Amino acid sequence: MILTITPNPSLDRTYEVPALDRGEVLRATAERMDPGGKGVNVSRAVAAAARRTVAVLPLGGAPGALVAELLAGQGIEVAPVPVAGATRSNIALAEPDGTLTKINAPGPELTAAESESLLSTIRTHAGAAAWIACCGSLPRGLAPEWYAELVARAHRAGARIALDTSGPSLLAALRERPDVVKPNAEELAQAVGRPLATVGDAVKAAEELRTYGAGSVLASLGADGQLLVSGTGTYFGSAAVAAVRSNVGAGDASLAGFLAAGGEGPAALASAVAHGAAAVQLPGSVMPSPADLDPSAVTVTADVPLDRPLTEPAS
Ligand SMILES: Nc1ncnc2c1ncn2[C@@H]1O[C@H](COP(=O)(O)OP(=O)(O)OP(=O)(O)O)[C@@H](O)[C@H]1O
Ligand SMILES: [Mg+2]
Repeated sequence: MILTITPNPSLDRTYEVPALDRGEVLRATAERMDPGGKGVNVSRAVAAAARRTVAVLPLGGAPGALVAELLAGQGIEVAPVPVAGATRSNIALAEPDGTLTKINAPGPELTAAESESLLSTIRTHAGAAAWIACCGSLPRGLAPEWYAELVARAHRAGARIALDTSGPSLLAALRERPDVVKPNAEELAQAVGRPLATVGDAVKAAEELRTYGAGSVLASLGADGQLLVSGTGTYFGSAAVAAVRSNVGAGDASLAGFLAAGGEGPAALASAVAHGAAAVQLPGSVMPSPADLDPSAVTVTADVPLDRPLTEPAS
């Protein structure tokens, strides 16, 4: 089972509008609601890969109840942690040319008791989990060391941890030796404090994260593909993509593909790349199903193209 943790989930409301005119009343031509959050995305993609998953999320108020209902409707098992504050609603305004304008709310502040009940709910499920995937930023009320504490406790329960977060909470957690971290190029550059211009720069940065404590680094490099830097080798994977529709959640799909395929080695990297490539060809944050994957388009090599410039250099 793959347990996912989304400390600050959301109810994502998308409105299609003919044009985004400031100061006007915009009349939406369509609207939809989706359960949102990076761990939620990972659970959706793991479930699509026919693997068991449980999503742990603090939920509060009417939006929280809706998130639980929407996930249940998608066949995803939820371990809710009731909180007093209402789960945030994030708004996306979609224009006909594909431009997406998003308003992300901060979400409720968790109390010390709620933070502890989140950790104890995770402990309840950790024993059955092959992997615990911790994804996204922390809500107000959780200290930057919260993920570090979670990694330490999960390891005591015998579970492996994959962490997809950034900034101080990533750096603090590295000290507790998470088994996998999944930065994108920007997050990797930020973590080492220097820009990345080539694939080789990304390899060096990932190696540095390993010296800070990361077991393996699955670095996603947008259109350029992905790197796996681990104790057993460094691999580069990429896939040809015909047309990109939306890169939102492509990193989450990649992490799900990596964990569903065992979470280590070149075959898991190939699965991560296949999931990322499929995700960008689907609209919004729709997660790929097995039928969307094209493993034949993926190449993985230990012959890493170190001198290749990144399409989007990270600063
Ligand atoms: N423009 C693109 N063309 C082809 N593949 C892409 C493109 N963008 C992303 N991908 C695939 O998806 C993977 C993940 O993308 P990216 O590095 O942007 O993740 P991310 O920034 O963590 O995304 P998110 O956090 O929104 O899920 C890439 O490593 C690659 O395999
Ligand atoms: Mg990401």
